Amino acid sequence: MATLLIVHHTPSPNCQALFEAVVAGATTEDIEGVRVVRRAALSATASDVLAADGYLLGTPANLGYMSGALKHFFDQVYYPCLDTTKGRPFGYWVHGGNDVTGAVRGIETITTGLGWRRAADAVTVTGEPGRTDTEACWELGATVAAGLMV
Ligand SMILES: Cc1cc2nc3c(=O)[nH]c(=O)nc-3n(C[C@H](O)[C@H](O)[C@H](O)COP(=O)(O)O)c2cc1C
Repeated sequence: MATLLIVHHTPSPNCQALFEAVVAGATTEDIEGVRVVRRAALSATASDVLAADGYLLGTPANLGYMSGALKHFFDQVYYPCLDTTKGRPFGYWVHGGNDVTGAVRGIETITTGLGWRRAADAVTVTGEPGRTDTEACWELGATVAAGLMV
């Protein structure tokens, strides 16, 4: 069975709404043979990353970058995972107040360094998520999970 690891920093109800939509998409009944593991970014480890076959990452935009929690996650796992996770699929979502550019750039740069392969368009949301936003997050979760079905 394939494993999809969701690493997220979810500090508010708006972020929680997006996270729940991603999980709902990734665990929809049409997806078979994919185990979904969720980890708060501050508790995710290199072992979690090595044991997974694909990744979903979620963060708020903070001070023009990804959250410190997701940055800490990457700091911890980058070198331990560099050798063996190249080519693995991932997707991500970012929630912000008004400008998520720096967070997006940071995630793209680090995942390019890791050699991960983006398997779905990034979802970016500012302000209170609407139905279109949660649907996009659902699609994100479902797309990356479906790609892991064997
Ligand atoms: C210290 C701090 C810095 C922030 N920096 C940014 C930022 O650079 N860009 C942005 O779009 N939003 C920024 N925000 C807003 C957060 O992204 C937002 O609060 C978070 O996504 C949660 O959304 P919510 O407050 O609507 O629930 C910042 C929030 C805080 C507390």
